[in-house]
Amino acid sequence: MQHDRLLRVSNITISDGEFTQFQRFIFDAAGITMAEGKKALVSGRLAKRLAHHGLNTYSEYFAMLASGRNPAEVQVAVDLLTTNETYFFREMKHFDLLRQLAQESSGSGTPFRVWSAASSTGEETYSIAMVLADVLEARPWEVFGTDISTRVLERARRGHYPMDRASQMPQNYLKRFCLKGNGSEAGTLLVEKALRNRVQFAHLNLNETLPPSLPQFDVIFLRNVMIYFSAETKRQVVARLLTKLKPGGHFLVGHSETLNDISTAVVAQGPSIYVKR
Ligand SMILES: C[S@@+](CC[C@H](N)C(=O)[O-])C[C@H]1O[C@@H](n2cnc3c(N)ncnc32)[C@H](O)[C@@H]1O
Repeated sequence: MQHDRLLRVSNITISDGEFTQFQRFIFDAAGITMAEGKKALVSGRLAKRLAHHGLNTYSEYFAMLASGRNPAEVQVAVDLLTTNETYFFREMKHFDLLRQLAQESSGSGTPFRVWSAASSTGEETYSIAMVLADVLEARPWEVFGTDISTRVLERARRGHYPMDRASQMPQNYLKRFCLKGNGSEAGTLLVEKALRNRVQFAHLNLNETLPPSLPQFDVIFLRNVMIYFSAETKRQVVARLLTKLKPGGHFLVGHSETLNDISTAVVAQGPSIYVKR
């Protein structure tokens, strides 16, 4: 029976009008602009939710999301429509810079604070924490990881990863901060508890007002998420995040991203590296 239903659902096609509904849905929910070419991606990722609810069309699923009666399902759809690819020490140049900034930090007693603002499953956030634990040792530091997807945040808090995500991780960090899985866990690593406990993960939509409790940061990583935003959304998100960056603080974006024409409140220090005026 179940098998029949799955087969049937996999045959459901998404119409242009339905695709437009989901384009609007993910734009309103996350600020993500979904190009026309993503129709197959949207229908593929949402097909299992139609099956789960026994629905026959994408319009029915959209109506369920739009009804406002099922916020948990809205989160599931957001989780499915976001792209979460990441790995440890992605774009190493930023971690070399972070090391240097931490070394040069004054040690005035205020914690050195870093925000991984689209953390996905946490590899970026833990990479930052490893560098700070290494450089700052007993001096105070804080690392925050935030994302719109609750599913990736659960995985981030667990800190358990396939080993291939760590191919760029320095060997001494692998030994010092990670446990290698044995037996049924072979081929995986677990970020050690002491480091996990020093990192805070929270749900945060970059397209909404930031919580006033969020402190001022020395460095903000906003990497490989602006590619999904329109120019106007980028401007709004960057302006919002810059209110949480200390003057002279560093703002890091993905290597294929730029803040040219997005903000005049920062100065480029090199490709993908900006400093707040
Ligand atoms: C490709 S991952 C980037 C991960 C990491 N920063 C890196 O560079 O490897 C993009 C992440 O941005 C998150 N994201 C997308 N829109 C968002 C929004 N409006 N607010 C917060 N996070 C968002 C997605 O859920 C996803 O986990």
